[in-house]
Amino acid sequence: MSKRRAAFLTLGCKVNQYETDAMEEILEKAGYEIVSFKETADVYIINTCSVTNMADRKSRQMIHRAKKNNPDAIIVAAGCYVQAAEEELAKKNEADILVGNNKKKDIAQILEEYFAAKEPEQEVPVVSEVIDINHTKEYEDLTIHKVNEHTRAYIKIQDGCNQFCSYCIIPYTRGRIRSKNPEEVIEEVKNLAAQGYKEIVLTGIHLSSYGKDLGTVTLLDVIKRIQQVEDVERIRLGSLEPRIITEEFMEGISSLPKVCPHFHLSLQSGCDKTLRNMNRRYSAAEYAEKCELIRKFYPSPALTTDVIVGFPVETEEDFEESYEFVKNIHFYETHIFKYSRRQGTKAAVMEGQLTEAVKSIRSEKMIALHEIRAKEYETSMIGKTLELLLEEEVEINGKTYFMAHSKEYVRAVIEKTKDHKVNDLVRAKAVDFADEHVLLAICEELY
Ligand code: F3S
Repeated sequence: MSKRRAAFLTLGCKVNQYETDAMEEILEKAGYEIVSFKETADVYIINTCSVTNMADRKSRQMIHRAKKNNPDAIIVAAGCYVQAAEEELAKKNEADILVGNNKKKDIAQILEEYFAAKEPEQEVPVVSEVIDINHTKEYEDLTIHKVNEHTRAYIKIQDGCNQFCSYCIIPYTRGRIRSKNPEEVIEEVKNLAAQGYKEIVLTGIHLSSYGKDLGTVTLLDVIKRIQQVEDVERIRLGSLEPRIITEEFMEGISSLPKVCPHFHLSLQSGCDKTLRNMNRRYSAAEYAEKCELIRKFYPSPALTTDVIVGFPVETEEDFEESYEFVKNIHFYETHIFKYSRRQGTKAAVMEGQLTEAVKSIRSEKMIALHEIRAKEYETSMIGKTLELLLEEEVEINGKTYFMAHSKEYVRAVIEKTKDHKVNDLVRAKAVDFADEHVLLAICEELY
């Protein structure tokens, strides 16, 4: 019998992508051939997202698209949208199998049972594998050995969130904080390093909570252990919350040379009133102190952030306060989101929802600031020697280069020569811009 063909599509965040990668490996091991989503497959797995109403819609659209690709295929909807809308999806009968969070590890077995029970030409009711995620303490045991990128592997070490920001559905779709056992983290990192991945990016739903449920280990402990893994050259941290930045944490981190001086601290707003409405648990002043603390330990770190504009009851003055705050911190990158109502959250039913037009004006103003600050930071790199990890070949104005990221996550290119190949780490001096937000660097030596 020829191999069954399975195709995946992922929506949402890096954690979801990791879980797709892990499911792919599970099905490959079970004898499936993995094909692209556009091809005809026997099974389509849509790893859904539910972070906004728009994400829900996109998840539904992708379920339809899979059905259109092959009306005879088995359609599996997995992940956060399933967790949030199980009943609705079961009634609709568009997906054949629903797999909630914490059940992705069972994908091969769920499919096997489905195929075994299915008689030719016979209608089978929707199979639902969804648990009460809010009461689970189990960290789902998923692991990856490879990723699609050549150099950088994102790994998930934490799940769930206890924060309940007023705009966010994720605590309801992911449940409470759970951490991957540190021994398993190290095992996974060692395997990836042995495969040649030089950069490990630690991700989670609320990474700063890593270890809190285990009680015996902290995020800093696990980073220290990754530092010891031979062949890992870089450790990059995913989104952190400001409160994890303490003297002790920074002292620990800055003594580990593999940790990248790139810190993504989610801000969301620089206005205290809006922060309170969002149920964020820090003030703008505290946030600014944390940035200062990072700068005390690193001379010119890349600080990046997320900002929501147009949150309910955000007045013009509130927005200006947030804008001025962002301006004064001097972020390298600011990811700007127009507030988007998510059903089932407190913010969705708040009075004082703003119009799309107002949100757009604020977003454009913030984007313009981001552009200026990003360029400023990149320009400050000119004249400096950067450590670059070569990722892929690119053409710019008819010339071939290696595209790379510095430890700060600034993009840079070096001219392609025979001396280098993808996945080399090189030292190169930034001399100019090669393109918009891409530095041109000249190589000093091969590592
Ligand atoms: Fe979306 Fe779930 Fe990630 S809601 S952003 S896939 S945690």
